Amino acid sequence: MSDGYLAIARKWRPRTLEEMAGQTHVTRTLGNALASGRLHHAFLFTGARGVGKTTAARAFARSLNCMKGPALTPCGECTPCIEIPNGTSPDVIEVDGASNNSVEDIRDLRDGVRYLPSSGRFKIYVIDEVHMLSKGAFNALLKTLEEPPPHVKFIFATTEVNKIPETILSRVQRFDFKRIPGPVVAERLRLICDAEGVQVSDAALRMVARAGEGSMRDSQSLLDQVISFGGMSPTDEQVTQILGLVDRRVLYEMLEGLLSGDAARCLDAVAAVYESGYEIAQFTGELLELVRDTALVALSPKAERHMDAPVEERERLGRLAQGVPAEQLARTFHVLLEVHDQVARASRPRMVLEMAVARLVSIRPAEPVGVLVDRLADLERRMRGGGAAPPRPRGRESADDPEGERRR
Ligand SMILES: Nc1ncnc2c1ncn2[C@@H]1O[C@H](COP(=O)(O)OP(=O)(O)OP(=O)(O)O)[C@@H](O)[C@H]1O
Ligand SMILES: [Mg+2]
Ligand SMILES: [Zn+2]
Repeated sequence: MSDGYLAIARKWRPRTLEEMAGQTHVTRTLGNALASGRLHHAFLFTGARGVGKTTAARAFARSLNCMKGPALTPCGECTPCIEIPNGTSPDVIEVDGASNNSVEDIRDLRDGVRYLPSSGRFKIYVIDEVHMLSKGAFNALLKTLEEPPPHVKFIFATTEVNKIPETILSRVQRFDFKRIPGPVVAERLRLICDAEGVQVSDAALRMVARAGEGSMRDSQSLLDQVISFGGMSPTDEQVTQILGLVDRRVLYEMLEGLLSGDAARCLDAVAAVYESGYEIAQFTGELLELVRDTALVALSPKAERHMDAPVEERERLGRLAQGVPAEQLARTFHVLLEVHDQVARASRPRMVLEMAVARLVSIRPAEPVGVLVDRLADLERRMRGGGAAPPRPRGRESADDPEGERRR
């Protein structure tokens, strides 16, 4: 990468609350508070890593101190608007709770609170990783937090809200940041790629977003990796490779093989996974997810909103689900769950999976009740009359009663 290269996550950090992806429950409430002027004096932002806590803290500080504000949309031109995103505003004091966690550190902060802001409206203390403060430090903070001077605002951020004392929690307005849904992350990645001139498919961005597990920062870092590996037009294969994902085609081969009882197709898929060097356990994990998705599609078209699969895949799953009874899907899932656990512990995971294929392809739905009733009646007749009933056409029946195994 060139000298001036800035990681995507840094370069694309939103500068306003409105620009943030997801977290609308947070931005809307803050926006209302800004508009009405009913502003609490202390805020706590909690949630998983990389979902926008620090970003929102800075953007909110900007909204608070914009000379044309306070406003949800800051003007972007005044001194605070320019200084705050650069971290050079004298009125926005960012404290890293992890390294400034002593009583003395908080006493210093408390002393500073008395002085008026130099140019902005408020003096804003952003304490990141606030859960790292010592017990004494929290106590030293209490009094100030209870009755700060009117020109002071506190914004705390933490990933571990359970480590914050009740006494602090009861004095702040709390906002829980959520993991960002895959499609929302993908949409943001699309915006970034378009602006950066990176040509990549929607499917690939969905994969990146899935791998980021709801963290925008992680997803953006993965996108950085994809670009440094695949250049400005990374292919889906490259993305799959860099993410360490199993090729979706192989997953579908396996799924279709399992559901149609085609053992050879399954074994080919297992071999393909093994040869490309993927973890077998990762494969069974993704397969489980796919079986679950198929079951959901079979259950109800509305279940789609609980799925992370891209639209094309949902249609494919829908077609697959049509030919397969729900019970077969449920049993396949349960057996596969066991297999997945075994595979994860096995020293020869490939063999474990190959052996499991035999068990999995034999899963068939139990026969419809009508057929069973017929068969019972038939048996009864035979017992009573001693003579065999006239032969009736039957689909699958063999001497060693495979149903016994099936219905176990
Ligand atoms: N909701 C979001 N919308 C757009 N970009 C986001 C969002 N959340 C995070 N990002 C991106 O991810 C980067 C990291 O976000 P941020 O520092 O706000 O996360 P955080 O929640 O404070 O994480 P941590 O707990 O690790 O401190 C930002 O620079 C930004 O580019
Ligand atoms: Mg942060
Ligand atoms: Zn401004």
